[in-house]
Amino acid sequence: MRVLITGGAGFIGANLVHYLLRERPEWDVVNVDALTYAGNLENLAGVEDNPRYTFVHADIADKERMRAVFAEHRPDAILHLAAESHVDRSILDSTPFIRTNVTGTQVLLDEARRLGERVRFIHVSTDEVYGALGPEGKFREQTPLAPNSPYSASKAASDFLVRAAQRTFGVDAVITRCSNNYGPFQFPEKLIPLMIANAREDRPLPVYGDGLQVRDWLYVEDHCAALLAVLERGKAGEVYNIGGDNEWPNIEVVRLILDHLDKPESLIRHVEDRPGHDRRYAIDASKIERELGWKPSHRFEHALPETIDWYLAHENWVASVRSGRYREYYERQYGRRVREQ
Ligand code: NAD
Ligand code: TYD
Repeated sequence: MRVLITGGAGFIGANLVHYLLRERPEWDVVNVDALTYAGNLENLAGVEDNPRYTFVHADIADKERMRAVFAEHRPDAILHLAAESHVDRSILDSTPFIRTNVTGTQVLLDEARRLGERVRFIHVSTDEVYGALGPEGKFREQTPLAPNSPYSASKAASDFLVRAAQRTFGVDAVITRCSNNYGPFQFPEKLIPLMIANAREDRPLPVYGDGLQVRDWLYVEDHCAALLAVLERGKAGEVYNIGGDNEWPNIEVVRLILDHLDKPESLIRHVEDRPGHDRRYAIDASKIERELGWKPSHRFEHALPETIDWYLAHENWVASVRSGRYREYYERQYGRRVREQ
């Protein structure tokens, strides 16, 4: 079995590379990543020498390149995670979101189709495509898509393209929609690693608006386990929600981090709210539990402190990302410069 992961140098992708090499010792993993600002090969230190792992530096929106990559590696399955993933960046400039999330997804679908029906295509999407919830209810797979940010709109567009490729051309495609992840290797522009890094240095913690927006947090390894279950047992044409049944207002998450680090709440700064800020996300994951037998195995009460301790123990990783030094890793490792994006 040869699995091609896109975006394997990012947060979830890198965790997934480690997870698959460990959990499926007979599989080969090919990681296709463009190494944007979010791609960090330091996340994969230690796997480069594994004979079952191959890294390909390539842009998924480059059709000719993808054709050559698919012809050379002939994957049995694609786990598609490459994306522009940060809402705030999409508000500043949506251009790369359309290129990678929409065009890139279509390029991959076309190439999967050329290889034939035997190629399984797992499209890793997000609960954000459903829009925002009020105080009650949860997102179900049947909830109509109503994205509110350029990021979530581009992900929703990609979901529709995947759906169309399955219905029109019979591509063996499945869509997953997961809630917010936390864990090792997350880029410190996202809430949890940003707050840990700032609190550690006694810098202010920027909480958007009143901080009462709610997110449903899932430990990244539980997401990896769900993706493996979908790859192995998911039904073509289906959507599977993935979530931790673990809702927290942002301000409470920030307080837990401060408390664990023994830092004062006076570091919290309420700043201007994000435009179009979704008030609440919550996932109903009963379908994947019922049909594929997956459920989360990490509890926030333990996994959040462990995650904080991981960032404390990996001071060099954080410093490298914050200073931009991580961009030089590729050059040292492969003797070529990372293309600026
Ligand atoms: P990330 O931003 O940490 O990583 C994205 C990776 O994709 C990077 O390694 C980057 O270099 C690569 N990439 C970007 N553009 C590319 C291109 N054109 N060609 C090839 N590679 C490219 O993202 P993440 O948080 O790991 O998210 C991974 C996927 O999971 C995304 O599709 C995202 O929408 C989805 N998702 C994320 C979360 C979350 O909480 N982080 C939750 C649900 C779903
Ligand atoms: P984020 O990690 O960007 O994920 P998403 O927007 O995709 O859910 O943000 C999580 C929540 O934290 C979201 O409600 C926005 C909020 N937030 C802040 O309050 N301050 C910050 O500095 C960041 C990055 C996010």
